[in-house]
Amino acid sequence: MVAHGSGLHRIAPVNAPCLGDLRLVDEAATARLGAAIAVALERGEAICLSGPLGAGKSALARGLIRALAPDAGDVPSPTFTLVQFYAGPRFEIAHFDLYRLARPEEAFEIGLDEALRDGAAVIEWPERLEGRLPPDRLDVAIRLDGEGRRARLTAHGGWEGRALEF
Ligand SMILES: Nc1ncnc2c1ncn2[C@@H]1O[C@H](COP(=O)(O)OP(=O)(O)OP(=O)(O)O)[C@@H](O)[C@H]1O
Ligand SMILES: [Mg+2]
Repeated sequence: MVAHGSGLHRIAPVNAPCLGDLRLVDEAATARLGAAIAVALERGEAICLSGPLGAGKSALARGLIRALAPDAGDVPSPTFTLVQFYAGPRFEIAHFDLYRLARPEEAFEIGLDEALRDGAAVIEWPERLEGRLPPDRLDVAIRLDGEGRRARLTAHGGWEGRALEF
């Protein structure tokens, strides 16, 4: 383990079914986890972010998108458009916020399959897909923990056994 900023730098394999709990002391740590996930993310894969309102899903998505698309700028939450696409040097990244999704089919109508064909997707409120989740994915469940947060990572499909540096 190597000291790094306010936290610790760990190299841990993401073992199925669960890597365990990571403590995120502040928003910067949440964004840092997003950036660490971005390094390991491949085309065709999804990162599914669950947790209550205000958990920090958008903060993690922002860190991830900025790492993959350095010109992304603000990265506002796509609350009304449901999806926002960002071009990056490795592949395109699509940011879905499915909170207002009326039915799972709508996600495919707004381009979820195409997003995974052309690049990768980060998905807030994946519960709205009612189980129609991309097979190659990392689930990140965030919960409140005092002033900070905790994130539980669970790998599926191509993510199983992948190393993550955080
Ligand atoms: N690790 C953390 N510790 C403390 N606060 C955090 C942490 N991560 C994010 N936050 C804060 O939590 C608040 C909510 O973050 P964010 O908007 O990302 O949540 P969300 O899960 O996307 O919410 P929503 O479901 O409403 O979209 C922000 O004020 C952010 O600064
Ligand atoms: Mg959000």
